[in-house]
Amino acid sequence: LNIDTGRDLQRDHAGRLRHLLTLEGLGREELTQLLDLAQFYVRHSGDMPARDQSLAGRTVANLFFEPSTRTRVSFELAATRLGADVVNLDLHSSSRVKGETVLDTIYTLQAMQVDVFVMRDSEPGVPALVASHVQPHVSVLNAGEAHVSHPTQGLLDVLTIRQRKGDLRKLRVAIVGDVKHSRVARSTATALTALGVGELRLVAPENLMPAATEFPGAERHTALVDGIRGADVIMTLRIQRERMSGAPDPDAFCREWGITEQNLPLAAPGAVVLHPGPMNRGVEISSGIADGPQSAIQQQVRNGVAVRMAVLATIVRNVQVRNVEAGRREG
Ligand code: CP
Repeated sequence: LNIDTGRDLQRDHAGRLRHLLTLEGLGREELTQLLDLAQFYVRHSGDMPARDQSLAGRTVANLFFEPSTRTRVSFELAATRLGADVVNLDLHSSSRVKGETVLDTIYTLQAMQVDVFVMRDSEPGVPALVASHVQPHVSVLNAGEAHVSHPTQGLLDVLTIRQRKGDLRKLRVAIVGDVKHSRVARSTATALTALGVGELRLVAPENLMPAATEFPGAERHTALVDGIRGADVIMTLRIQRERMSGAPDPDAFCREWGITEQNLPLAAPGAVVLHPGPMNRGVEISSGIADGPQSAIQQQVRNGVAVRMAVLATIVRNVQVRNVEAGRREG
């Protein structure tokens, strides 16, 4: 299964999103609706979080077969704040370590009336595989698939950029570091491109640059100073050591590719710095930048809950509409 399969698979017969496997194929209007709903759920730090009952009576299972802090917890908070029952399973506490297949794990939880599976897996194609085997009323949300896709991260990144910098069509965005192994870079770039970003730059050493067939329309820079010069947004990435052999030396990488107090002034005045996390301070970003006034990293995390509320509410509403229509046809 490939990401194109996910793109076709994620819609019902009427074209509504039933799963969220990839941002490929989502147009400007559909993305903007999701971002606007996410914005509706955003609250300031210290205020009471947004809550409603969009998922009352529904059960959400978080299946994380790769480590996660932000995505897992934010999906749990999002589902809980929308009134769902939530269960969490990770690789080490699941029967997959005893040899159970991922589909048998899914069938087991489906028998307990789980309605939404939130899935992270190190193997490409697993969310699409699961989506093609669940019952018609069940949805699958991709929470990070190998190097391929991380759709809700892409949405929260563009929401953060929109909040900080306004119209994406006027912006120069530089994605810096290990682009080759990054599912975040792929999903964020897909969303930025669909929303008409002014300029998209990939800034990476040759060995961490993705294949020429990927990231259509993006400029490529193999020198940091060229890539970030005049950029309005810099998104720096963690080195995905778990997806490569011969990872670079951290100190050497920081000297050449780290976003620091020395090189950030090359960007446009007031440029904003993003990092999807988890970040390695002193490798891809200095602590001074990560904690400084140009950093949007905590805003990204806060937006993560709102984006996942918007996605859950949208998907569950679409499934309800489909069920009502199917009931009318049968009745
Ligand atoms: N950005 C992101 O996916 O973080 P986690 O691995 O902590 O979920």
